[in-house]
Amino acid sequence: MTTEEMSTQRTRESNADPARVYDYFIGGESGFDADRAAGAWINFQAPDLLAAMRANRAFLARAVRWLTEQGVDQFIDIGSGFPLSPNTHETVLSAFPSGSVVYCDVDAAVGERTRELVAGQPGATFVQGDIRDPERLLAQPAVRALVDSGRPVACVLAAVLHFVPEEADPARITAVLRDALPPGSYLVVSHVAGDIPWDDRNSTEALRRATEEMYPRTRSQFTTFFGDFDLVEPGVGPAPRWHRADGAADENPDLPIYAGVARKAL
Ligand SMILES: C[S@@+](CC[C@H](N)C(=O)[O-])C[C@H]1O[C@@H](n2cnc3c(N)ncnc32)[C@H](O)[C@@H]1O
Repeated sequence: MTTEEMSTQRTRESNADPARVYDYFIGGESGFDADRAAGAWINFQAPDLLAAMRANRAFLARAVRWLTEQGVDQFIDIGSGFPLSPNTHETVLSAFPSGSVVYCDVDAAVGERTRELVAGQPGATFVQGDIRDPERLLAQPAVRALVDSGRPVACVLAAVLHFVPEEADPARITAVLRDALPPGSYLVVSHVAGDIPWDDRNSTEALRRATEEMYPRTRSQFTTFFGDFDLVEPGVGPAPRWHRADGAADENPDLPIYAGVARKAL
């Protein structure tokens, strides 16, 4: 390792990173001490935030499973995060061995881990990219191949758009992605809500302290991300309410994280 690489590694290890803190909460092992320290604070002080992160991941798993049940076998998962089972490709490729999943994240460390995990699986791949530049992302050959197939693709934007400020125009980003998708495709989105209060005041504080700025949005702002796609039942609402899992009775159904799935007309 060069001196420069060692210094980058030290910086990476001493700063809490939102992707790794999130991974720590949903049960992953990618974190360093700084991530675990930030995680411990949230764990004790902001239990709702922890519940919302887990509810988001559970929504993602339910949505991917539901989409495979609708016959969708091609997925683009943007802001995919550190892998944690059930990962999108595990669900999709077990239903459709010849299916395709393209993961995309801006974080190189996420890329390293994802590439290791999917190595040797022709149906799964990772491309590094920034959702704020959707044209560039769509031009990546692996992504291009799916959108050019003419067959339905599910584009998953789980817990990523709340990292995109208004200046970067999330409405335009989602419009570009929607336009590129073939007829019959689906858009899956989850996003921290700005108009549902957190039960514990510390969750707001924890979001404020996050090293990466977050931009919670209202239900109507969230709904615009789906454009003219048709929302599938139950529409837009808190993530735990989307195809609520059996046995989820103890979970707060109104955690401040919106979720929805919508379909492009044929
Ligand atoms: C909270 S995690 C969500 C992971 C996964 N989608 C889930 O819902 O479990 C957010 C991920 O978005 C990624 N991310 C943040 N900003 C991004 C951007 N501009 N472009 C692509 N990915 C981004 C982070 O690196 C992180 O891995």
